Amino acid sequence: MEAKADQIVLRDATVLDVPRMAAIINGFAAQGIMLPRSHYQFYQHIQQFIVAEAAGQVIGCGALSVVWSDLCEIRSVAVDPEWQGCGVGRLIVDSLLERAAQLGLPGVFTLTYRAGFFARFGFQQVAHETLPHKIWGDCLNCPKYPDCDEIAMKVEFVKETEHAQG
Ligand SMILES: CC(C)(COP(=O)(O)OP(=O)(O)OC[C@H]1O[C@@H](n2cnc3c(N)ncnc32)[C@H](O)[C@@H]1OP(=O)(O)O)[C@@H](O)C(=O)NCCC(=O)NCCS
Repeated sequence: MEAKADQIVLRDATVLDVPRMAAIINGFAAQGIMLPRSHYQFYQHIQQFIVAEAAGQVIGCGALSVVWSDLCEIRSVAVDPEWQGCGVGRLIVDSLLERAAQLGLPGVFTLTYRAGFFARFGFQQVAHETLPHKIWGDCLNCPKYPDCDEIAMKVEFVKETEHAQG
């Protein structure tokens, strides 16, 4: 699989990628390790997504969702099972973190069942209550609501006080 890593290209998602992204994510959702996403949700948020592609096929994706000047979420990070373990997830998360920093955000949070993976990028677990109510809007549509068992994690690029000072 290491050899294959050379062939991987990251790019912004297009609407044509939606069926493939949905197949990857909803495959994991069927196993209870991600939340399901409809095609409508992908189309609505298509500008937030990047995809990893190899030999013309989408093999992974991820999204960055900005909520406020100091609040941004990495979501929907998923890699085709055939391609896991060869650095695709790292490429996707590194690229989303870089984009968040370029946009001037002081850090990023995520809700995940894969805390060990996100810890590799400096994310630390935080209590759900530390995240503002606004982010839980999406959760109303979640089959698990209100018993969320995802782990909330955050990484900061800039100390909150420095960000507030501009
Ligand atoms: C979690 C996931 C995105 C990782 O993608 P991947 O391409 O296999 O990960 P990479 O090969 O880029 O691994 C990067 C690093 O994370 C580590 N890692 C990967 N999966 C991990 C896990 N589940 N727990 C802990 N560490 C993990 C790797 O060992 C590697 O570490 P290293 O840099 O020290 O070598 C992928 O397994 C996946 O799609 N899982 C199902 C969907 C999911 O759970 N998404 C999480 C967001 S909700």
